[in-house]
Amino acid sequence: MAFGIMSGATSNVEHAQLTELNRIRTEVGDLVACEKGDGIPFDPVRAYYLYDVPDTAERGGHAHRELQQLIVAVSGSFKVVLSDGVGKKEVMLRKPTEGLLLPPGLWRTLEDFSGGAICLVLASHGYEAADYIRDWSEFLSFKS
Ligand code: TYD
Repeated sequence: MAFGIMSGATSNVEHAQLTELNRIRTEVGDLVACEKGDGIPFDPVRAYYLYDVPDTAERGGHAHRELQQLIVAVSGSFKVVLSDGVGKKEVMLRKPTEGLLLPPGLWRTLEDFSGGAICLVLASHGYEAADYIRDWSEFLSFKS
């Protein structure tokens, strides 16, 4: 099934994809551009970033019903731990040219932030509290 139309109820951890982003090199530094069809399958309508995250912190701890995301370590590194309720997958992000595409319906935590790490997230929808599943039992019901 195409990434962009995957349902949150049926997605699994193998649907999370690492993707090489569109890097433009110049003599005065590099630039990465993200646009629908150019590395990402959705129109990003929101961006946010995490920074100053203590190395002991665990971020996330939730799933989304419909939201798709692209997660990038634009600086430093961190680990993304994914679960679909059955399977588990861990992905280390450490390159500003590599993005992790997440379909809806995956439980995720972000851990092991290095000093100075910045986690950029591009999202397919605006912020909607109702799109979050923050309770593990509710997540398992959603996936069953
Ligand atoms: P939260 O989603 O709990 O952070 P994380 O999953 O990275 O650990 O968000 C932390 C707070 O920020 C929470 O009060 C909701 C708020 N928030 C917004 O207001 N807008 C946003 O786009 C996001 C992602 C969070």
